[in-house]
Amino acid sequence: MSLRVAFLRVTIPPLLYSKYKDTKMKIREYFPLGVASGRAFCNREIETQTLNNNIQNGQHTVIVSPRRYGKTSLAQHALQLSNIPYCKVDFFIIVDERTIEKLILSSINTLIGEIFGSTEKILAIMQRYVKKLKPTLSVSANGPKIELSPSASEDPSHNILEALLMLENMLREKKQMAVIFFDEFQEISLVEKRHGIEAAIRSVAQESQQLSFIFSGSNRHLLSSMFEDKKRPLYKLCKKIQLERISKQHYYKHLNTLAKRKWNALLPNDTFESIMTFSECHPYYVNNICEQLWSQSDNLPRPEDVKLVWNWLIKLEKSEVIQELAALSLNQKKIMVAIANGLVTGLTSKDFLNQSSMASSSVIRAIESLVKKDLIILNDDKLSILDPLIKYSLKEMNWV
Ligand SMILES: Nc1ncnc2c1ncn2[C@@H]1O[C@H](COP(=O)(O)OP(=O)(O)OP(=O)(O)O)[C@@H](O)[C@H]1O
Ligand SMILES: [Mg+2]
Repeated sequence: MSLRVAFLRVTIPPLLYSKYKDTKMKIREYFPLGVASGRAFCNREIETQTLNNNIQNGQHTVIVSPRRYGKTSLAQHALQLSNIPYCKVDFFIIVDERTIEKLILSSINTLIGEIFGSTEKILAIMQRYVKKLKPTLSVSANGPKIELSPSASEDPSHNILEALLMLENMLREKKQMAVIFFDEFQEISLVEKRHGIEAAIRSVAQESQQLSFIFSGSNRHLLSSMFEDKKRPLYKLCKKIQLERISKQHYYKHLNTLAKRKWNALLPNDTFESIMTFSECHPYYVNNICEQLWSQSDNLPRPEDVKLVWNWLIKLEKSEVIQELAALSLNQKKIMVAIANGLVTGLTSKDFLNQSSMASSSVIRAIESLVKKDLIILNDDKLSILDPLIKYSLKEMNWV
């Protein structure tokens, strides 16, 4: 049964105030599955304030959280509010050091263009601060532009160091602050094992007066080791923002604002509770559920509708979940199933060891590895599955 058909079967009283409904509302804009901004952005006031204070004080920040909690959204939200020029360098797909170099140089070049205006003036200033990099003026269909070319004979980390120093010096001359936001930053450590680029960034960041850096990425264990391991160049460089899920109380206000725009009424309490229960306040799943509820029904959704959407989502994401679980060892799967079914402590108890035919050392190893993969978390001595959809799938469907 398709979701749309399922909704037609739900009998819901007609809305009293439908003439006030926001018919122009683009649901995806309010519940994006990617970066949340504008009206889609819920709360995060304290985190935004903290990040903006760091930026204003020239302090560097690393934003850490499990996957899809809203790191990128928070950084972009705070940067837009700060009114300080910034560039974002996304290392989502990098294959080697030259790609990293290219991404950083071109972002710096664009940022300089935005701050300094006239290309001829920029060229003259740039040339004062570079030795190996080659800034050149070229003419494109859109008019003159500056290209910042690396020296092919130099190591990428040297070129990056020179470009960052050049930017810092130019900003000092203009008494201008700026921010560089490095997203998916952990990827650097996968292609560059010598940590030369991390060292180049550190040497600029620790002396910088005008530049503030924000680092984030979706693999928090790799990211944390870059900033918390004494042997790594970026050790203790940053203030850390540990991002948690958005609270139920903040979602209450946010979702009801958007419910009023769509239905000119508040969400029924049991519907709201149902959204929070299935999604466990995980921002990605709140948006996934709400996007369907807001776009499928002309009437206020009821808890049954939330359940229908959730079951539909489970079916939709089934192959992804299977793929994620297929990569686990048998012991890791046993642990996941046990936790999903409510065994959140006592996994090394005799009962569980007998029942699962596992040795306690194997249980401990499996738990450590699942924590590292960010599939489970340990909080107040209790284990839980991080992704509510994976948890639900394991519980309901008994796939493993
Ligand atoms: N403040 C917010 N208000 C409402 N929704 C949000 C907020 N922040 C993030 N989201 C939603 O959460 C999901 C993940 O957001 P985002 O991509 O910013 O997270 P992320 O932590 O950077 O993810 P990844 O770990 O994959 O890099 C998206 O659906 C986004 O729209
Ligand atoms: Mg992100």
